[in-house]
Amino acid sequence: MSGSVPEKIGKYPIESLVAKGGMGAVYKAVHPELKRPVIIKKLTIRGNAAINERFTREARILLDLQHPHIVHLFDYFLESGSRYLVLEFVDGLSLDRLLRRKKRFSGPMALLVLLETCVALKFAHDHGIIHRDVKPGNILISRKGSVKLADFGIASDGQGAGEDDRAATVAGTKRAGKGDGPGGAKAGTELTVAGAVLGTPSYMPPEQFADSSAVDARADIYAAGVMLYEMLTGQKPFPGGNTPETREAIRKGKYPPVRSLAPDAPALAVRLVRKMMRPNPKKRYSDLGPVIKAITRYLKRFPVRDIRFAMVQNMLTSKTAEPPFQPVRRPFLVALVALVGALALAGASTFAWNEGLIHRFLLRPWYAPVNLRVELPSYVADSVYGSDDLQFRAFFFRDDGGEIPEVPGTRRVLEPVGSADDAPSQSFAGTPSVECRTVWLRPGAYRLKLVAGPRIWWESFSLDRAGRDLSPRFGAATARSLSVRTAAFDAATGRELPSSSFYVMSGGAWLPLSRVEPKSLRTGTVQKFRVTCEGYQSMEWSLRIGWYQDELVLDAGLEALR
Ligand SMILES: Nc1ncnc2c1ncn2[C@@H]1O[C@H](COP(=O)(O)OP(=O)(O)O)[C@@H](O)[C@H]1O
Ligand SMILES: [Mg+2]
Repeated sequence: MSGSVPEKIGKYPIESLVAKGGMGAVYKAVHPELKRPVIIKKLTIRGNAAINERFTREARILLDLQHPHIVHLFDYFLESGSRYLVLEFVDGLSLDRLLRRKKRFSGPMALLVLLETCVALKFAHDHGIIHRDVKPGNILISRKGSVKLADFGIASDGQGAGEDDRAATVAGTKRAGKGDGPGGAKAGTELTVAGAVLGTPSYMPPEQFADSSAVDARADIYAAGVMLYEMLTGQKPFPGGNTPETREAIRKGKYPPVRSLAPDAPALAVRLVRKMMRPNPKKRYSDLGPVIKAITRYLKRFPVRDIRFAMVQNMLTSKTAEPPFQPVRRPFLVALVALVGALALAGASTFAWNEGLIHRFLLRPWYAPVNLRVELPSYVADSVYGSDDLQFRAFFFRDDGGEIPEVPGTRRVLEPVGSADDAPSQSFAGTPSVECRTVWLRPGAYRLKLVAGPRIWWESFSLDRAGRDLSPRFGAATARSLSVRTAAFDAATGRELPSSSFYVMSGGAWLPLSRVEPKSLRTGTVQKFRVTCEGYQSMEWSLRIGWYQDELVLDAGLEALR
């Protein structure tokens, strides 16, 4: 970029020409006292009040928009009829240069650049400023990998913008057709001045073609969408020049889908492009808030520092590749989710298995249901429903004529019907009985073993596809003989009292226990006992003896008489 580079502009010694556009030039200069580089942007068109006013407005807008992602304005001055902006020097590269070098950005990198662009744009929008020329040439990326939005040259601040635009364009300037740096020659083909149109056609939404003075934030949102598309795919959605066909395509929103050019583009990026680039502004985002929020959430999973680092590497070296950015894994969270999932699945399948749901709905062609219910004689019912908590248990064996193996997973505890915990035996209607969960077995020959207390029943049954309800009979009451052991002792000292005597009530009279036939004490009945000892108070009990008991131990602690 040769040409006449002045030695000094104002007090600033000029180092080099950075870019030359249709109506201005951008120089790199040095602040004379601070010895730091600055950018001087010169307006070269003379004598047009409207243009001068626009340039002044750019300065005013920049002064108002102090933001980390917007280029800072340091000064504004007039010298020998020209106007100058003094700007923060962004040491880096404009996005269009980086794009030309890299061709394509990874999804995370494209979204990071878009995010910071959107943050800057939203800040401007919230201050009533529409940029109207959002494009890669006006996005600067610093050596720290941070985005700086530049060039508010045709921005509108809603103050007489319409008239101003027309005056500027009617004056026949190329304000709207400024090229950016080395892209100038090429840019000439894609830029236009037509009527009151300001902007860069490739990035302009349909409504900006019609009247650029009337556009709002949604025009910037559209242009940002085009930029995202370009970063993802390496090409513009509407690459044609400013022809009627291209404008028609823009009006209709006809462009190759992102994924047809960038198959690996993140779903979020694809969605954002689609909605930001809607030709009808009413269907676009009306505010960048949701876009910023969505990208921020997306990038939380990525190592943003690494992405910035790779971007800077791409800027400073000839390297254009990016490492494949992987979403950050959160091992604890992943493990927790996996664990909860596994537990839920295990719980659900265990439940389904236990409840027979698997058999009923999946394995029904191969399994048949067996339901077991045992009616209880009252003397047994008392010990099941009452405080004895006698358990009934069922075991199933396959009758193979040999080993008789137990069928795994079929053991059951039979529970009192009308459950003991909510229905005391007295209020239980129907016949007292116990039952258990359905057992699912393959059709065949089986043996059922029922165990209750000391008693074991065996019952054979055969099973066909229809299933079976089993109700084995408990059989007649079978009282058992009871052996009794007795001991009496002094309640106060614990001393044994060998001279004590035990009696049992028999036929209305007390019969010494020593004279009772061992076999004549029966289970399943209430028996009355008495113990006496010289010098002690005698004691009596009534005992219900469970049908299943076979030994009774009577320990009597006696109080001494005074
Ligand atoms: N503050 C800056 N720091 C570094 N380079 C800059 C800065 N401002 C502009 N440039 C360079 O100058 C080019 C044109 O600047 P811009 O403000 O877009 O002017 P124009 O109105 O001519 O498009 C940019 O693409 C960029 O390469
Ligand atoms: Mg520019």
